[in-house]
Amino acid sequence: MGKIMILSKQEQSILISTYTTVMLHANTITEQFYQNLFEALPEVEPLFTKDMRQQRKMFTEIVRLSISSVDRLNRIEKQLRHLGEKHTAVGIKPEYYPVLRDAWLQAMADDMGDAFTADVRQAWSNLFDIISSMMLGER
Ligand code: HEM
Repeated sequence: MGKIMILSKQEQSILISTYTTVMLHANTITEQFYQNLFEALPEVEPLFTKDMRQQRKMFTEIVRLSISSVDRLNRIEKQLRHLGEKHTAVGIKPEYYPVLRDAWLQAMADDMGDAFTADVRQAWSNLFDIISSMMLGER
């Protein structure tokens, strides 16, 4: 209800242009991201069974996929829903998703400094909310 499921053209172009930074700094950002996540939700850390290097790659791949479909996220909805079902099965609760989003935004903010403007934050926040809604089957 009232969930934003579409990104404006301006948000799409912000996402595409800032994604370059995310890719160039993928290691730093994803390491910081998981550190932020585990600080906020220590109970989920033991749920990660893979090597964290591998995990960071898999997470980054979903970000890449989302950006590549940013003008029509419905194209990847099925895949995200399947990913979400896997999450539910290992005990990931819906209320964790906004915590993960904020852990990501903070990692980007730390890396980008002043380049992480309010508009950039909003665009990435909306993207993560849409991905989360699709993973949780909230349609
Ligand atoms: C934007 C939302 C999210 C994305 C894109 C995402 C992405 C991924 C991906 C790609 C994997 C690997 C799946 C596989 O092995 O096939 C994964 C695993 C995992 N995710 Fe997420 N995730 C999200 C949200 C969350 C949240 C909110 C949590 C908990 C705070 C979480 C915790 C985990 C855990 C514990 C695993 C590893 C499970 C295992 O090792 O068996 N994820 N995630």
